[in-house]
Amino acid sequence: MPALVLLGAQWGDEGKGKATDLLGGSVDYVVRYQGGNNAGHTVVVGDQKYALHLLPSGILSPGCTPVIGNGVVVDPSVLLSELSGLNERGVDTSKLLLSGNAHIITPYNVTVDKVTERFLGKRKIGTTGRGIGPTYADKINRVGIRVQDLYDESILTQKVEAALDVKNQILTKLYNRRAIAVDQVVEELLDYAEKLRPYVADTVLVINEALENDKVVLFEGGQGTLLDIDHGTYPFVTSSNPTAGGACTGAGVGPTKISRVIGILKAYTTRVGAGPFPTELFDEDGEALRRIGGERGVTTGRDRRCGWFDAVIARYATRVNGLTDFFLTKLDVLTGWEQIPVCVAYEIDGRRVEELPYSQSDFHHAKPVYEMLPGWSEDISKAKSFSDLPKNAQAYVKALEEMSGAPISAIGVGPGRDETIEINSFL
Ligand code: GDP
Ligand code: IMO
Ligand code: MG
Repeated sequence: MPALVLLGAQWGDEGKGKATDLLGGSVDYVVRYQGGNNAGHTVVVGDQKYALHLLPSGILSPGCTPVIGNGVVVDPSVLLSELSGLNERGVDTSKLLLSGNAHIITPYNVTVDKVTERFLGKRKIGTTGRGIGPTYADKINRVGIRVQDLYDESILTQKVEAALDVKNQILTKLYNRRAIAVDQVVEELLDYAEKLRPYVADTVLVINEALENDKVVLFEGGQGTLLDIDHGTYPFVTSSNPTAGGACTGAGVGPTKISRVIGILKAYTTRVGAGPFPTELFDEDGEALRRIGGERGVTTGRDRRCGWFDAVIARYATRVNGLTDFFLTKLDVLTGWEQIPVCVAYEIDGRRVEELPYSQSDFHHAKPVYEMLPGWSEDISKAKSFSDLPKNAQAYVKALEEMSGAPISAIGVGPGRDETIEINSFL
C-alpha cells in the first residue's frame, strides 16, 4: 500500500514537477491536495517543455491517473485551457478525476485578491493574483462554491448571492469598484459545468479503494513548507497547507496510510513574493544563481529572489513534515563556485540560534551564520551515479544531508527527466 507524499521543503519552486514526473511512470495515481493555479511546475520530457499550474504532474505519464483532490481550489477556465493545451500537444487527459468537493475560484475571488493587494500597498504579500486566498477564505467562512454546486442551478444561484451580498458592499463602498452581478457569475459558472462533468468524481473513495488494492498513490504538493498557512512565514504565506498533513485533509486519506514523505530541496534557496529570507543575496552571486538556475516564476514571470542553502529551514521541513527522504535538485547550478556558503545557524540579536525561531520578529532579524564548503568546476550534468560526482560535490551533498536530518535519496543534475542520480529507490 505505498502512499507517498512529495512536497516542497523551502519556499516553492524546488522542482516538484520534475520529481513527480520522474516517479509518474511507476505510480498509479498522482493527487494534488492543496493550492491551485498559483503553482507553476515545469516538466521537461525529451525536447518538450510543459508548464503545469493546476493539473498534477502525473498527467504526462500515460499509465497514471491524475486526481485533483478536495483540498484544491479550482479556476475552471484555467483548468479547461490547461487541458486543451495538453490535448493539442497530444497528451491524453481523459483519465483526470476532479473532486466534487473542491472549491471553485470564482471571478470575484480573483478581483478581491487583486484589490486587496493593491490596498495593502507596501505591506502587500506579493500574491500571484489568482484568487487563491479569497477562495480559501470563502471556504472557511462557509460561503464557498464547490464543483458539485455547478450541477444544481438553484443552489448555485443562492450561494453566489450569499457570497456577493457582502463582497459587493466591500467592493463598492470600501474599494470603490463596481458591483459584480450574480446572474453574470452564475451564467459563467454554468457554462463550465458540462465541460467539467466527465471528470467529476468521488475522489476520496477512488483514492482509498486504490490504496486498498495495493495501487501506488503519490500526493503532489504545491508551494512549499515555508509558504504553509500554519507552519510558514506567516503572513507571507499561501492560504493552504502544503505540509504533509495537508495531504491527508486535502485528499481524504488517514495519516496511517502514508508510507513515505519526500521533501524536494533545492541545492540553494529561492523565494517569490514578499517576506523574510535570511540567506537572500543582493550581489553578483544572487544574480548568477538567478541566471544559471533560470529562476523566473512559471506563473507570474517574476524574477525569483535567490540565496544560499539554508540548513535551518531544511531541518525545520524535516520536522514539520516527518520527512523520510530528500530529493536534492539543481546541484548542477552550483558548478563553478570556488567556495559555496551554507547557512548552518542564525545570529539573532547577538545570539546563535540553531532552529527556526517561532517568533516572526526574531526571524525578520535573523542573520545567516555561514560555513564555507569547497566547490567544484567539473560539468556534473551527465552524472548517473553518486560516484560520478566530483569529490567536492559529493561532500556538499553529504554535508547537506547531515545538516538537514533526512537521507538525500535522489539528486537532480539538470531539468530533464533522466538528469537525475537515484541513490535509494522511492518505491
Ligand atoms: P516546482 O514549482 O517545484 O515544480 O518547480 P518549478 O518548475 O517552478 O521550478 C523548478 C525549475 O527548475 C524548472 O524550470 C525545472 O525544469 C528546473 N529543474 C528541476 N530540477 C532541476 C535540476 O536538477 N537541475 C536544473 N538545472 N534544473 C532543474
Ligand atoms: P509552486 O507550486 C513559489 C507565493 C506567492 C506569494 C505567496 C502567496 O510553483 O512551488 P498566493 O497567490 O498563493 O496567495 O501567494 O505565495 N507562491 C509561490 N511561490 N512557488 C509557488 O508555487 C507559489 N505559489 C504561491 O509568490 O508570495
Ligand atoms: Mg513553481
